[in-house]
Amino acid sequence: MRFLFSDDVRRDPYPWYAELRRASPVLRDPRTGTWMVFDYHGVRRALDDHDAFGSDVSAAGYGNLGWFIFFDPPRHTKMRALISRAFTPRTVAGLEPRVREIARGLLDTTAGRDAFDVVGDFAVPLPLMVIAELLGAPADDWSRFRRWSDVILELALTLQGGAEAQHAVAAFTAVRAEMARYLAELLDVRRDAPRDDLLSRLLAAEVDGSRLSDGEILAFFQLLLLAGHETTTNLIGNAVISFAEHPEQLARLRADPTLLPSAVEEVLRYRSPVQAVFRVTRRDVTLGGHAIPARSLVLAMIGSANRDPSRFPAPDAFDVARAPNAHVAFGHGIHFCLGAPLSRLEARVALGELLARTETIALADDQPWEPRAAFHVHGATRLPIHVTPRSAS
Ligand code: HEM
Repeated sequence: MRFLFSDDVRRDPYPWYAELRRASPVLRDPRTGTWMVFDYHGVRRALDDHDAFGSDVSAAGYGNLGWFIFFDPPRHTKMRALISRAFTPRTVAGLEPRVREIARGLLDTTAGRDAFDVVGDFAVPLPLMVIAELLGAPADDWSRFRRWSDVILELALTLQGGAEAQHAVAAFTAVRAEMARYLAELLDVRRDAPRDDLLSRLLAAEVDGSRLSDGEILAFFQLLLLAGHETTTNLIGNAVISFAEHPEQLARLRADPTLLPSAVEEVLRYRSPVQAVFRVTRRDVTLGGHAIPARSLVLAMIGSANRDPSRFPAPDAFDVARAPNAHVAFGHGIHFCLGAPLSRLEARVALGELLARTETIALADDQPWEPRAAFHVHGATRLPIHVTPRSAS
């Protein structure tokens, strides 16, 4: 899997995936012992068959951070249920005016400029401010949250081994302490006076007759901050990259804005913000003709599954009107992304507002964009663009 750590491959992993999918859709990295699954069928099996493919990576010797995304039932079911009501499509629909207000406010700061960093100035703060408000943290603290989640994200580098791994763990330990102090202050205020936010709800919650510990609430806080923005940030940035690469598709969308929801789905498939999710075999399993022993770490390569020609006709074509589009960008089965309705809303609002204000959008750098550090996510660290503001025409 060493190839996944090269910048060029992370910018465009798709030719690699195609080659590997053709040669051997399931393969074992001899250096790390990690198994990787590249085809749609195999990825769906890894996501759906949770008796065989569990999520508790500690069974394979990795830290599970206490995040419920890494739990198996029955604990997974109970922890997920504590917050799932906050993310139902109906609840999320009620957030649209506020999401739009935040998006407009951010774009206002770029008004009159013909160039800005659409990732740093827009796609990063928007979802961070939204998830901060849902949790009950001040939205203005978003740049601190970005710094924390960058460090957490780099924990994925521990799979690479060596000095990078040690550095990532040390940085995480420091950030975890800083986050714990920050959260303790927020929780103190809510213990005295609960509010209508997720932290207050978690403080009041009971699982199997006991309240959550501060450590368990910290785990929710970390997971939601990270999952709540890294992915949506990359979805918005990847949409801009995909439009820049396919101007005819952008023209089609501009001509028919009702295509916006399906364009968002196509970006999710074509440049999936999450490229891989982790599983651990709970027993000996046979997949794609390979015998995978119990307690093996498995990477379900959803970015590759979303370009599998056996599932998607012309998989490498970017088609804003693609239908059907049964991508697995949000996963599948019991761990299906809790934030899917929220991220769809944020991406639709963000792109709608961006397109409404611009006549043209083009990537400003002639250098290739720099990919995020972790191999299992896909997106640019920054993305300078040139725009022609609509009012200028
Ligand atoms: C789970 C992708 C946005 C919260 C997942 C999973 C994927 C995913 C692939 C499944 C993980 C697995 O099976 O191991 C994405 C993408 C997003 C996005 C592509 C945006 C484009 C969000 C947002 C939130 C969120 C905005 C929260 C506000 C979660 C949580 C889980 C999850 C809590 C764990 C669910 C569970 O284990 O039951 N996401 N996500 N995600 N996502 Fe998202």
